[in-house]
Amino acid sequence: MSKITIAIDGFSSTGKSTLAKQLAKELGYVYVDTGAMYRAITLFAMRNSFIGNGEERLEDLVKLLPKINLRFVPNAELGFSEMYLNDENVEKEIRTMQVSKFVSRVAEIEQVRYKLVEMQKNMGKEKGIVMDGRDIGTVVFPDAELKVFMTASPQARATRRYKELLDRGEDVLYKDVLENVEKRDFIDSHREFSPLRKAKDAIEFDNSDMGLKEQFERLLSIADRFI
Ligand code: C5P
Repeated sequence: MSKITIAIDGFSSTGKSTLAKQLAKELGYVYVDTGAMYRAITLFAMRNSFIGNGEERLEDLVKLLPKINLRFVPNAELGFSEMYLNDENVEKEIRTMQVSKFVSRVAEIEQVRYKLVEMQKNMGKEKGIVMDGRDIGTVVFPDAELKVFMTASPQARATRRYKELLDRGEDVLYKDVLENVEKRDFIDSHREFSPLRKAKDAIEFDNSDMGLKEQFERLLSIADRFI
């Protein structure tokens, strides 16, 4: 069976990663969470005080971009890959609300996008990949055989994200999570370089009222038509 490229894009907290990960496992494909890459660069910027705490020195971040090494390292026990920033496992730290607050600002920077898109294209050279993000079907793999665009109401998405953060032990308020989801969507879809858009040939997938099992079955049956 020949392998294809599957691009999954959509708004924040639509559950893209969970579904994409499951689909990749089922098909024996590689899974890449591109949001983790933008989050890791944001963490680097925050640690160096290039952003956060009222500061913004993003030109200094751009200067240091060549020194930032990102890698996905498979964790056999967990069954998925974890994000390493300059050889440090940052998988947990990149998922915090603090990083979510600043990531869309960092993702607007043209040089950041250029660096990450190049890496992502390389990862997909052999096909057999499920990649999720905001610009996968439009910029990274415009020729992907299957493109899915996920949507859900802001409330449904904020509720999911809120539960996820509470489960991880973060002390957050629902209203702050909702505000963050809406703000990121706005910045992501209005930025100058590769804004979040549904590719013309993407299949729209609204999962506001669907449980995980139903979402997965539907996505798998869509994928089966393309493989
Ligand atoms: O997918 P996740 O919510 O973890 O992504 C975090 C942020 O990274 C997004 O809100 C967006 O600003 C940025 N991003 C992006 N392009 C991608 C993936 C993520 O701009 N391909």
